[in-house]
Amino acid sequence: MMELGQAMRERRSIRGFTDKPVTREMLEEIIDMANCAPSSMNTQPWHLHVLTGAPLEAIRTGNSERMLAGIPPVREIPDHGTYEGVHRERQIEIAKQLFAAMGIARDDKAMRQDWVMRGFRQFDAPVSIVVTFDRSLIDNGTIAHFDLGAVTYGLVLAAWSKGLGTVINGQGIMQSPVVREHAQIPDDQVILTCVALGWPDESFAANDVKSHRRPVSNTARFVGFD
Ligand SMILES: Cc1cc2nc3c(=O)[nH]c(=O)nc-3n(C[C@H](O)[C@H](O)[C@H](O)COP(=O)(O)O)c2cc1C
Repeated sequence: MMELGQAMRERRSIRGFTDKPVTREMLEEIIDMANCAPSSMNTQPWHLHVLTGAPLEAIRTGNSERMLAGIPPVREIPDHGTYEGVHRERQIEIAKQLFAAMGIARDDKAMRQDWVMRGFRQFDAPVSIVVTFDRSLIDNGTIAHFDLGAVTYGLVLAAWSKGLGTVINGQGIMQSPVVREHAQIPDDQVILTCVALGWPDESFAANDVKSHRRPVSNTARFVGFD
């Protein structure tokens, strides 16, 4: 298995997948590793719904059709709204990188729309892991969201260490009622996000895109070290 530091540095989001199936055994190993994530007071408030085949196809179709029909997104957590300032700048930077890799011109509305639709289809990944948390924690959900971020990063890294690609994919659950119906999410859970997963398609240009990060000097300050 890949060394942790290597996996952390080399991982990137994968948005093009081959048809090669991912075995249930591999998925169980990855989830077993991700489950080692820390959580507030060891509450482990996450649930992972691992989808493939007909239910996943039904979610792709339902999510895409509703988005194409102009139905506003229905999420189960508060929306982040429009990003501004440095957050918007970073959002634009990665979009530019992805469009350049895919040869999508700025004014090519059809190709841009095609890219957005791929997102709604979870980039046609063979597997999707829907990440939910216990509804009893929704009123003060910040810490539960933190815990789910930890387990999700664990999932993504564990998958990468085994040669599998992932993209955390808010677009794929924009129409959460569709996900709830076809994945049969229990009423006492809240849908936070999903992770599209599969074997990376080496010929898919966007898979080579490496997003930029701020240096340590721009991220951290050290107090009392001098
Ligand atoms: C909460 C969350 C939601 C995301 N949703 C999407 C999405 O809907 N579509 C997409 O293409 N990427 C999505 N991403 C992936 C980010 O765009 C990606 O992580 C970021 O640009 C950094 O790139 P990297 O993962 O390659 O390092 C999401 C990531 C996170 C953490």
